[in-house]
Amino acid sequence: MSALEIHNIHKRYGEVETLKGIDIALESGEFLVLLGSSGCGKSTLLNIIAGLAEPSGGDIRVGTRSIVGVHPKDRDIAMVFQSYALYPNMSVARNIGFGLEMRKVPAAEREKAVNETARLLQIENLLERRPAQLSGGQRQRVAIGRALVRNPQVFLFDEPLSNLDAKLRMEMRTELKRLHQLLKTTVVYVTHDQIEAMTLATRIAVMRDGRIEQLGTPEEIYDRPATLYVAGFVGSPPMNVFEAVAAEDGLRVGDGAPIALPPRFHGRVSNGQRVKVGIRPEALHLAGPDARTPLLTARVEVVELTGPELVVTARIGGERITACLPPRTRLAIDTEQTFAFDDEALHLFNPETGRSLLAG
Ligand SMILES: Nc1ncnc2c1ncn2[C@@H]1O[C@H](COP(=O)(O)OP(=O)(O)OP(=O)(O)O)[C@@H](O)[C@H]1O
Ligand SMILES: [Mg+2]
Repeated sequence: MSALEIHNIHKRYGEVETLKGIDIALESGEFLVLLGSSGCGKSTLLNIIAGLAEPSGGDIRVGTRSIVGVHPKDRDIAMVFQSYALYPNMSVARNIGFGLEMRKVPAAEREKAVNETARLLQIENLLERRPAQLSGGQRQRVAIGRALVRNPQVFLFDEPLSNLDAKLRMEMRTELKRLHQLLKTTVVYVTHDQIEAMTLATRIAVMRDGRIEQLGTPEEIYDRPATLYVAGFVGSPPMNVFEAVAAEDGLRVGDGAPIALPPRFHGRVSNGQRVKVGIRPEALHLAGPDARTPLLTARVEVVELTGPELVVTARIGGERITACLPPRTRLAIDTEQTFAFDDEALHLFNPETGRSLLAG
């Protein structure tokens, strides 16, 4: 039995279909991240799970029961929004406990739950303060506390960290991860930040235009992207993608030396076939004199030291590629360099459909 089952969910607003058949089954304790660019339907799906919007078709089940049509407060689901409004005139303690107060939970029990939640979030010393006397990160913790205190079956988060500055975002991200490891609640978390998705998720659903483009663990999404879209969405700098033509001796890019075709692609490409080659910047390194792995020769154009790495931009045929090398690498611009990479680092896509040549 799944903890949360999303079955063939459709949503239309008038003529426009915002969700075009979403299917996900979550096990208890999973942390699912819905990742996608603005307007792809992430919040719509979350709102449908929460009961703030009704689907045009499909079913949502928590445990064994369908919750479509069930009032939001009876769904045993708690949601943390992007713009979390705290009650300005109430103390932190009362903000956290307000939901329980509305549910007529006795005061003693409420106080116990609020204190326990505050301890988990490490804000016990702030309970008497008003929201205006808190930092952004502390306010965020209170908003999370409000959801946490209810001890729901499922937590929903809609971009909860997007109002915070970069440093605080990272801290709160770690904090959320710690909480999830501790509480093991089932979570659905919306973001368009790929790092947040990679670090928090047990599984990521990459959404595009109302559909799921790929559903998998962070490793699967990063190591085996099913489409060019997924490949480009996860990873920074993004995966290098360039055109090549399959030939007897390998993949030909411009008039450079051919790239050897790894065995797993044998039988999947025919001679003369055009393909899109994908290699992540961090998979490239400078080839030693006796490198046996596939090789790629490119002319160095720009070299940028970011601190932890040297970002190299180079030209291959008519295309540009990026390589992330160790920071102490010495590299002269305007020279031809040979880059090596492991077999597994090579991705091939169909240029028309964008689908991986290894996908089904
Ligand atoms: N009430 C509504 N009426 C009509 N169209 C809507 C409504 N709510 C959302 N939409 C449309 O549905 C699409 C998906 O919206 P949604 O809010 O789910 O996107 P999102 O993925 O959460 O984007 P963002 O990252 O910007 O928050 C958008 O094109 C949006 O304009
Ligand atoms: Mg949204």
